[in-house]
Amino acid sequence: MIGPESAAWATLSRLAEAGAGADVAAAFKADPARESRYTREAAGLLLDLSHQRIDQKIFDALIALAGEVDIPSAFRAMFAGEKINNTEGRAALHAALRQEPGDAVGGAEIERLVLDGRERMLAFAESVRSGGRYDTVINIGIGGSDLGPAMATAALKGFAKGAPKVRFVSNVDAVALHDALEESDAERTLFIICSKTFTTQETLANAERAKAWLKKHLSDRDVSAHFAAVSVNAPAMDAFGVHPDQRFAMWDWVGGRYSVWSAIGLSLAIAIGAESFKRFLAGARAMDRHALSAPLDQNLPVLLALAGIWNINFQKISTLAVLPYTDRLARFPAFLQQLEMESNGKRVLRDGSPVRCATAPVIWGEPGNNAQHSFFQLLHQGGLLAALDVLLLRRSPVGDGEAATLALANGLAQIETFTLGQGGEPHRVHPGSRPMSVLVLESLTPETLGALIALYEHKVYAQSVVWGINAFDQFGVELGKKIGHSTLAALNAPDTVMGLASVCERLEALRD
Ligand code: F6P
Repeated sequence: MIGPESAAWATLSRLAEAGAGADVAAAFKADPARESRYTREAAGLLLDLSHQRIDQKIFDALIALAGEVDIPSAFRAMFAGEKINNTEGRAALHAALRQEPGDAVGGAEIERLVLDGRERMLAFAESVRSGGRYDTVINIGIGGSDLGPAMATAALKGFAKGAPKVRFVSNVDAVALHDALEESDAERTLFIICSKTFTTQETLANAERAKAWLKKHLSDRDVSAHFAAVSVNAPAMDAFGVHPDQRFAMWDWVGGRYSVWSAIGLSLAIAIGAESFKRFLAGARAMDRHALSAPLDQNLPVLLALAGIWNINFQKISTLAVLPYTDRLARFPAFLQQLEMESNGKRVLRDGSPVRCATAPVIWGEPGNNAQHSFFQLLHQGGLLAALDVLLLRRSPVGDGEAATLALANGLAQIETFTLGQGGEPHRVHPGSRPMSVLVLESLTPETLGALIALYEHKVYAQSVVWGINAFDQFGVELGKKIGHSTLAALNAPDTVMGLASVCERLEALRD
């Protein structure tokens, strides 16, 4: 059964039509215990849903919805390695990547593949990190082969002392590559080509440029020592010239946006080291075990998913702003954009028939403190409503307790203002009751970051189960890639493709 077919969905519709839960400010005044009633903790994270537009009837109906679509069975199916990516006939076993010996997530063979692959990847990472040969590592990848490692490396910068400088290159316009190469010594630079398919145009274009740069600076000496690669495509790695000892496996049962736990996380492992990378995996594993075992009304991924369902499908709110109150998570909104919108930005059900309700929202966001000085005006007083995920840190990532307190005070002040609002003359009225989930981390460590990412992975999957869609394919990105190849051919050979001739003429005119 999918959400729109359930009895709970009809109840939620009735409650929404009656305006239930809408006045959060009044609800707080009426119920001093509200915050504790809707706050849960697990795997080092605290989730507070008391600022959502919910009351007990709505909460109970949302839990009933999760039960009717049987999210626990869906979780079990994923961890068992069932082919839940039905359109591609694959499992979705990113959780298998963070298992420990004996877990047998996905079965014994998958466990062996994962543990052997992890051991080899971490040994290589340590050899690069402390071997002294490289002082710069440049990860070349895009989408899931960039966003996860880049976000996590930035978030855990405090754990990278003494490591080579790790940089990330993704865009095809070669600006980031140019800027990185300008500051790099070819003799001491390692490139990691991250590409599950090893066919992505942007990544191959940047990789070829990197190879040309190495050959130019190393006068055609053997450059293979300066390349590592992560892919499922061994023939393509052979063709590129990646040494077998410097290539690491990826598997087709891991989606790119779910792959930071795999060898796609090699750049992160080089930055923070094997032990911290294992702590990162352990944090995600703790969230996995919680997701599999916690009752629905205590289950953080399920509760975060249901808050989104209530906002998207019943409050008709189509965007979610992610507001981390720390610069260390500045790239977390961008990471979530792919995780959420490439997973659940779908228009058909698993069987190909049209969806029965709205699905993924538009995900956006910036560090909260900066956002207070850019788009919070709209969030407080604008006509368009956005749902908010506010992420707070109790402790400073850089040991500056006073600054951490300032950041926390700002976040708490905005939470209060978003919720309680204020009256007065028209220009100064804040309606309040802005729907918000609040996540609190004691501090940003490999464990809490791992748990945070896994929380959102499982939230996204739980929502896909309610909506009845496949969260693990991405056919919507294939057409653009295909046309990109023919557009490039047209631009390189003007007037060969009907309709593009004028584009080529205009480009020629620009060039002249
Ligand atoms: O955006 C489409 C996509 O296939 C993503 O799913 C993926 O993370 C990215 O492109 C990069 O793909 P690859 O790792 O195969 O280069």
